[in-house]
Amino acid sequence: MTTAQLIALDQILFILVAAVWAAAGGVALTAARQPREAARRTFLAAAALCAAAIAVTALRVLVTVGLARAGWWFAAEKVTLALPLVVVPALASAVISLPRLLRPGPEPSARRVAFPLLVTAYGAAAGIVCGIAISYPVTAGGVVAVLVLFTAASALTWRLLAPGRPSAGRRSGGRWRLAGVSVLLVALIWAVSGSWSGGGHLHAGHDATAFGVPIDQLLGPSGKDARRFTLTAQPATVRLPSGRTVEAWSFNGQVPGPVLRVRQGDLVEVTLLNRLPGRPVTIHWHGYDVPGGEDGVPGVTQDAVKPGQSHVYRFRATDPGTYWYHSHQDSSLAVPRGLFGMLIVDPAQPLKEDHTVALHTFGDRLTMSVDGSAPTDERATASIPPGSPVRLRIVDTDSLPLTLGLSGVPYRIAAVDGGDVPGATDLTGQRLHLAAGGRYDLTFTMPSRPVLLSAEGHPGLLIKTPGPDAPAPDAASGPVVDITRYGSRVPVPGRFDQEVTWVLDKTLALVNGVPKLGYTVNGKAWPNIPTPLVRQGQTIKITVVNRGRDTHPMHPHGHHVQILSRDGVPANGLLMDTFDVAPGEVWEVALVADNPGIWMSHCHDLNHAAQGMEFHLAYEGITTPFDVSAGNHPA
Ligand code: C2O
Ligand code: CU
Repeated sequence: MTTAQLIALDQILFILVAAVWAAAGGVALTAARQPREAARRTFLAAAALCAAAIAVTALRVLVTVGLARAGWWFAAEKVTLALPLVVVPALASAVISLPRLLRPGPEPSARRVAFPLLVTAYGAAAGIVCGIAISYPVTAGGVVAVLVLFTAASALTWRLLAPGRPSAGRRSGGRWRLAGVSVLLVALIWAVSGSWSGGGHLHAGHDATAFGVPIDQLLGPSGKDARRFTLTAQPATVRLPSGRTVEAWSFNGQVPGPVLRVRQGDLVEVTLLNRLPGRPVTIHWHGYDVPGGEDGVPGVTQDAVKPGQSHVYRFRATDPGTYWYHSHQDSSLAVPRGLFGMLIVDPAQPLKEDHTVALHTFGDRLTMSVDGSAPTDERATASIPPGSPVRLRIVDTDSLPLTLGLSGVPYRIAAVDGGDVPGATDLTGQRLHLAAGGRYDLTFTMPSRPVLLSAEGHPGLLIKTPGPDAPAPDAASGPVVDITRYGSRVPVPGRFDQEVTWVLDKTLALVNGVPKLGYTVNGKAWPNIPTPLVRQGQTIKITVVNRGRDTHPMHPHGHHVQILSRDGVPANGLLMDTFDVAPGEVWEVALVADNPGIWMSHCHDLNHAAQGMEFHLAYEGITTPFDVSAGNHPA
């Protein structure tokens, strides 16, 4: 079984285990009020349930062993807390309750046999609490809270089941209940304050008294020969060919915004004007490793640009490749609504047939925008003379990954996330998995018959040759390329100045101060995720573990990371800025700290980011005068 399957099975089992033990205890308890013969039958039913409970508990133990073998991150709280709490009382139930259920004595005591079963049920229920509230690393607060809840429930039950309580029992029972409830409250407060207390969002960088370089001084160069663009955020109505209309937020009235095409080496100067009623915006250059102060993250590198205001971004386009831009203010609202576009840095000698393809979902329709044209949810077409070298620059601007295919021609993935793939080999019929926010450049030589770029959920882009129509090829249906092993192997760093681990999960946490099931990193959600602090020149190894059931396209700003391995299998060392960590996966990546700043790092499923999965990566000695509390909402 895969780790992802074990994670899913475990989540079913921890509920099942608790339910079956509770049923066994509950049924045994009902025998107390029954006449002897009926009680015997009830006991047998309880015995059957007890046996079933033991079986599912054993299964949970096996699943946990499997998870622990996949990595301690996946099983720490289960091995140290959740399982002991159910396995120990389960053994007691097997030894104490089960024989008595099968062969009740002359005066069968429902209470005595029921107690171990109920305690086991509490232990199993504590396993549900662990599953929801404790991630990795296991926190002392969480452990104490769970233990207190378990002990309080068991003690209360013991007291309530005690035979022959004095008639004054009502009052003392009331006191016991009061005591129990207070203990539970204390435990919960502990959980909230101990396990959820702030981590380190307010790192030195936000401290006004800290020494260092303010991030708004880390700016790109200006020059009178700069390539100048103006992007005006404004409302627009998008009409899809299928007939749907979407009230969008646009740059310059176009969705996607204009394709910004510059030449390698150009100075780029983009003026953002905001004419969007009631909506602040920014522009983030996704994948372009701009100077720290140009990154467009509200509350970190600038204040969000309010309606009527403007902001100028400057950087030198040193790296050729395919990038994109989008607003980073309330990005989980702004990007789906259309505040994005493509940024292409052409090499010195660009191809004649060089085209952009932006994939984006409006409402429930996946659309394609070719070369910045209006998005279509029907088949797009293009015409290219046979024999031409072709480059398709594809971006997934959604929050979910896309499966792509190119059929009718052998092709290469010439670039990933802007960077060329060394030793890219020909692919025929294979499909591609493109992470949310990621880019692939596909290259091929136009054959004399049509080529189809397919995207799951969309009729695709049909590229024809001029002249009479030939039938379109079928969409590619071959195996999905493992991008971590594509191309030739390049050297990767062997030693690291720092190692950090990001364990991704869906856990009960404080998200923006509200306790809820959020998307967490190391058990905490924005803004409580501790900020990794790096020093310029360091090489950092980042281990990313996905303990949850959702895919997380992780996107560290300002840097490309080199992929070292996935699930222990060495990777080819590709550079990526957005990499898709599927449930149960463990990725090791290397980040070279060569771009000083305070960088947002987050999941590019922007809904996950908005629900907690975002944090900073900060360089020592860089400070920011901006704050996320002042109307700045990065996700
Ligand atoms: Cu494409 Cu922080 O984003
Ligand atoms: Cu995510």
